[in-house]
Amino acid sequence: MRRKVIAGNWKMNMLPNETLSFIEALAPHVKNSEVEVILCVPYTDLFYALLAAQETNIKIGAQNMHWEDSGAYTGEVSAKMLKSIGVEYVILGHSERRQYFAETDETVNKKVKKALEEGLKPIVCVGETLEQREAEKTDEVIGKQIEIGLGGLKETDFATLIIAYEPIWAIGTGKTATSEQANETIRAIRKKIVEMYGNEVASNVIIQYGGSVKSANAKELFTTSDIDGGLVGGASLKVEEFEKIINFS
Ligand code: PGA
Repeated sequence: MRRKVIAGNWKMNMLPNETLSFIEALAPHVKNSEVEVILCVPYTDLFYALLAAQETNIKIGAQNMHWEDSGAYTGEVSAKMLKSIGVEYVILGHSERRQYFAETDETVNKKVKKALEEGLKPIVCVGETLEQREAEKTDEVIGKQIEIGLGGLKETDFATLIIAYEPIWAIGTGKTATSEQANETIRAIRKKIVEMYGNEVASNVIIQYGGSVKSANAKELFTTSDIDGGLVGGASLKVEEFEKIINFS
């Protein structure tokens, strides 16, 4: 049985003092949760988040990293650096990074490999645009993102990494994919993983849905056959709303 994982993606939001009070307020509401809870916070909040989350079951992640260990890469942060302060997860290949910061499937692949090598758990995002969905290219587009982005890995890596299916047209738009649409695409992702790594890997890998998840649609999405929880943007910025999503059942 696959576990459910719900991760907040704070994007470029929240200051250290807000981070501290958010985690302090959230922790008691999720302490008996069977869902794995992760908060992916800005670099400047990581240390505070790790401190605040210490005695809780909330895990902390970053939102990006570089694939090199160190060097002349102004403005970048390495997997080693994240690991050194105790970060556990890292979002890789988010559509906003692909769209605004020239992230490609090839750089995602280098980052995934480095993260795994350093013992960080990647949350790897894939997803199609509205244009691609309307042209019925969803499976093809995502197939390529998976083929390159998750190419050359070991079968055992899939026990550590998480895939997040995030249709770009549903991110921050208030438009959610229907649970059928999301489940169907996630099933297609598993099929792709079967081709690449076999049945067992595909049926055990955690695949989340992301894109305008809120408390009102969490249950419907997360109780489908193939969706193992969510990557939550906007709705993860309010304690009460995020707590309801985590406790969806
Ligand atoms: P959203 O963002 O929940 O605000 O749509 C999801 C994401 O980008 O991970």
